[in-house]
Amino acid sequence: MLAGTGVVAGTEQVGDQLYLLHLDLPEIAPLVQPGQLVLVRCSDPDYPAFDPFLPRAFFVFAADRSAGRLSVLVERRGRGSAWLTGRREGDRVLAHGPVGRRITPERLTRHLLLLADGFTGVAALSFLGSEAARGGLAVTLLQNSVNGGLPPHLLQADVEYRSTSPEVGGLLGALPALVPWADELVIAAAPPLLDTLAALRRSRAAPFTLSAGKPIRAVPLFQPRLGAGGGDLLPCGTGMCGACEVRVQGGWRLFCHDGPAFPLEELRLVEDEPGYE
Ligand SMILES: Cc1cc2nc3c(=O)[nH]c(=O)nc-3n(C[C@H](O)[C@H](O)[C@H](O)COP(=O)(O)OP(=O)(O)OC[C@H]3O[C@@H](n4cnc5c(N)ncnc54)[C@H](O)[C@@H]3O)c2cc1C
Ligand code: FES
Repeated sequence: MLAGTGVVAGTEQVGDQLYLLHLDLPEIAPLVQPGQLVLVRCSDPDYPAFDPFLPRAFFVFAADRSAGRLSVLVERRGRGSAWLTGRREGDRVLAHGPVGRRITPERLTRHLLLLADGFTGVAALSFLGSEAARGGLAVTLLQNSVNGGLPPHLLQADVEYRSTSPEVGGLLGALPALVPWADELVIAAAPPLLDTLAALRRSRAAPFTLSAGKPIRAVPLFQPRLGAGGGDLLPCGTGMCGACEVRVQGGWRLFCHDGPAFPLEELRLVEDEPGYE
């Protein structure tokens, strides 16, 4: 993992509390791969403050590696994200990264279905979608959102974008129409939804009656040890603190080192489910 002081190349407000930040990070951006994260220190590098002290994690939403630029999609939620979304062109930020492993589609995949819960889900999967579409795959990205979808122009033109909402069944409600088309699924969502999806596939229930063998990789969007009300994870990203442990079949993995994506069938995220040891 590298550290670099970047320069804000632009800030776009793309939703009510949603911003796209373009960062010139010549040390880090040329290295980033789909699925990876950067950690951003949310205080002025020239006059560092102790609050907020710990860097915040953001998935790489897009990158122009040759230009040394990457973009992050930031939902304004608290002190760190408020500071970051207030940055303007020319401001400086300190970042570390890349963190995590590349997500690469399976060799035989031609149709890739990306399922994104909320804006963090989209942030986790958009770079994968762009790179896969650039590599010739047909890509559909479905977003579930309570407060509107992403402006589709933010995604690469040949990524098909669809949105849904909890009122009409969310991601699970849209699956019967999409699973037969897909060769592979990647889902970024909270553990209860991942657990439901895994149970549907295990029992070969619809929409997996004929599709139980399709590869599904899952990006868990918060950590079970912290719990739903336990606040956001502030990862060290180095594999040292252990805060990002993810329960898998037969042990633990580190989200920042082994993730962010895991085979769905290996995850053991929900404590009262059979198989959670
Ligand atoms: C893997 C990962 C990927 C993410 N990707 C994105 C993304 O692409 N886009 C996006 O918008 N967000 C993303 N997030 C969330 C983001 O990192 C921040 O957590 C979020 O923006 C809220 O941070 P904040 O500083 O605005 O809010 P705050 O409420 O100020 O802080 C967030 C949390 O940090 C904890 N905290 C704050 N200060 C301390 C302290 N001193 N000591 C200990 N804990 C403290 C608290 O639990 C608090 O709930 C991601 C998070 C993770 C873990
Ligand atoms: S975030 Fe510290 S070990 Fe993964």
